[in-house]
Amino acid sequence: MNVAVVSDGPLKEGSNVRNIPFFYTSRLFSMAEISSRNLQEMHLLVIELEDATGEHVESLKTALADVPDLSKLCIVSKANRREVVQAAAFGRVEIFERDGDLTALVRKMRDMLQPDFEALFPETTPETTRQAFLQTVACLDEIVLAAASSRPMPVRTLARTLHHIYSALTRDGISAWLSAVRCHHSHTYRHSMMVAGLAGAFAQTLGWSHKEQELLTLGGLMHDIGKTRIPLSILDKPGELTPDETELVRRHTLFGRDILKNRLEIPFEVKKMAVQHHEFLDGSGYPQGIAGDQIDTMVRAITICDIFTAMTETRSYKAAIPPRNAYADLCSMKTQLDQDLVRAFQPVVLSVDLGALNRTVETLFDGKKATGTAG
Ligand SMILES: [Fe+2]
Ligand SMILES: [Fe+2]
Repeated sequence: MNVAVVSDGPLKEGSNVRNIPFFYTSRLFSMAEISSRNLQEMHLLVIELEDATGEHVESLKTALADVPDLSKLCIVSKANRREVVQAAAFGRVEIFERDGDLTALVRKMRDMLQPDFEALFPETTPETTRQAFLQTVACLDEIVLAAASSRPMPVRTLARTLHHIYSALTRDGISAWLSAVRCHHSHTYRHSMMVAGLAGAFAQTLGWSHKEQELLTLGGLMHDIGKTRIPLSILDKPGELTPDETELVRRHTLFGRDILKNRLEIPFEVKKMAVQHHEFLDGSGYPQGIAGDQIDTMVRAITICDIFTAMTETRSYKAAIPPRNAYADLCSMKTQLDQDLVRAFQPVVLSVDLGALNRTVETLFDGKKATGTAG
């Protein structure tokens, strides 16, 4: 989902609009210079009307004439008559009070951008998985908003979500989960949900207790929470990152520590997974370069799920690697990953691989499920 933000002059310090790039892939435009060409690929236009001149509002209106269906959200002070009149001049727009809080702004944008997941789901998505997906998306929304503020994490929603994911994995299996999750437009949401599903399936395969299964699944959902401090224009950048951008992305583990450290409602194991999931057994990982026994089993397991997800997911700059090839790569990371756990991960990979094969067959048969294949 692409959002264009337009303002007449620099955004003020402390403005909610400045935080939009952490929630949506956004581009900032000057009101005086924006053209209809800039707006073609956009799904929402946020117009900050503070101190906008009549002349520049007119030039924006001209640019908008070519994209009449673009949704518009005007940020105004309702006490400022000039801004309210300027907003009305754009025709059908939503209004947001400038002094409103960030959570309300993001919720408003979500409402305006809400994709119709029901239409996006693969036809074969089972009901339990469908419900678990919708619950998990709502939960991730709450997690991201809590991470951006000092509000506590939504523990009741988290517990409900873990129960939904557990039911979906138990009843429908990991492949159905991964297929459903792929329809989400945000890479970060997709990635977190894939890692969470794989983590849940892995913990089940390992015969871990229900409590441990929940912890590993929650670790999957929250392991990249530090990325909420990195603008999406960097996280979703189509090309290669600059060295500075790479350095910033690597800091997501430390941002994760900052976000979670004072939150007593989040289990210690989950905090560890958020900070240490890029560490390797031979000490070659980051952020601390810890090694061996300093990395506990849950972290080792989530690292395997995270790397496997990263290899098997499609990004704008790389194609997905087939599950069996990704597994071979995990096996080749001898000094970095716990190879006992990698071996134990194999049944999960086989399920995923079978699911990928099934999807290919379904595509060949024009979307109709072929007989003789497993999902
Ligand atoms: Fe990460
Ligand atoms: Fe990750």
